[in-house]
Amino acid sequence: MRVMVVGGSGFVGRAVVSELLARGHAVRVLTRGTRPRVNGVEWVTGGVEDGPLLERACAGCDAVLYLAGIIAEVRDQTYDRVHREGTVRVLAAARATGVRQWIHMSALGTRADAPSRYHATKWAGEEAVRQSGMAWTIHRPSVIHGTGDGFLGFFERMSRWSPALPLVGGGKTLFQPVWVGDVATAMVRCIDVGASVGRTYDVCGPERWTLRQMLELVLRVTGRSRLLVPVPAPVAWCQAWVAETVLGSWKGRTPPLCRDQLIMLGEDNVGDPSALQTDLGWAASGLEEKLRERWG
Ligand SMILES: NC(=O)c1ccc[n+]([C@@H]2O[C@H](COP(=O)([O-])OP(=O)(O)OC[C@H]3O[C@@H](n4cnc5c(N)ncnc54)[C@H](OP(=O)(O)O)[C@@H]3O)[C@@H](O)[C@H]2O)c1
Repeated sequence: MRVMVVGGSGFVGRAVVSELLARGHAVRVLTRGTRPRVNGVEWVTGGVEDGPLLERACAGCDAVLYLAGIIAEVRDQTYDRVHREGTVRVLAAARATGVRQWIHMSALGTRADAPSRYHATKWAGEEAVRQSGMAWTIHRPSVIHGTGDGFLGFFERMSRWSPALPLVGGGKTLFQPVWVGDVATAMVRCIDVGASVGRTYDVCGPERWTLRQMLELVLRVTGRSRLLVPVPAPVAWCQAWVAETVLGSWKGRTPPLCRDQLIMLGEDNVGDPSALQTDLGWAASGLEEKLRERWG
């Protein structure tokens, strides 16, 4: 099959593209062109806001995998623009060019009344997909880990030089971390499995961990000893505001933390992957096993 991947240049997208290639699919990737490009893929340069280009990008494809997403807003790249408007625009181009299948990357915690704008706009994107009339599947992962990730990878890099790691929200929030290779397998398998059409899957690892437990594991695996320091909410809020203003608005770079992320870090991020296991025969790797392969 010929598959168009929106967001195929990112951390998760690269794993998805390599899984697609391994399974013999022809791959086209839409990218704004700021990241490294791998061989064996047809690259189309542009963003989800480039209306006329989108039909050319979708033409001749059997399926679209939509992974475009942002964790923090930077200038005119808003959550709404990428998660909702981008989905609507690419869906229109896909329908106009006869694409039949749509596999959509959302996130765990997405719901109509979500307090964070990240989740609220992911919900609006999901709604557009559900109303599209295409053969759709929606994936909602918990936090994703693997080489190049911006979450556990961020704390690991910080632990190389810092004597302490911050426990935002006290470190009590629960996650169900899932390995990037397993996320890619789940998405790509849906292309061939009819039972996945019309389904919304929680994409989660086998265990639930608090943020504190995950950071303790990172330190254990890397053999480092660091203090874990709870950061009071008002302090984290001020740090996020400064990071958004200086890095996001002024320098045009993604800040390491933003206020919307703080809202999300205050909510447990766990789910039930059993539907994915039943429909796709999917099994997820444990966090400790993968962190030991990476840093052990
Ligand atoms: N990482 C996680 O823990 C996690 C958890 C749950 C859900 N997700 C979701 O998974 C998806 C991928 O996340 P990731 O961690 O791989 O993020 P990432 O590394 O930052 O990659 C984001 C991708 O989105 C593309 N993109 C962003 N804005 C775009 C625009 N205006 N037009 C076209 N493409 C655009 C980027 O392409 P270019 O920059 O090359 O244009 C890039 O390929 C996102 O939808 C995210 O919300 C991630």
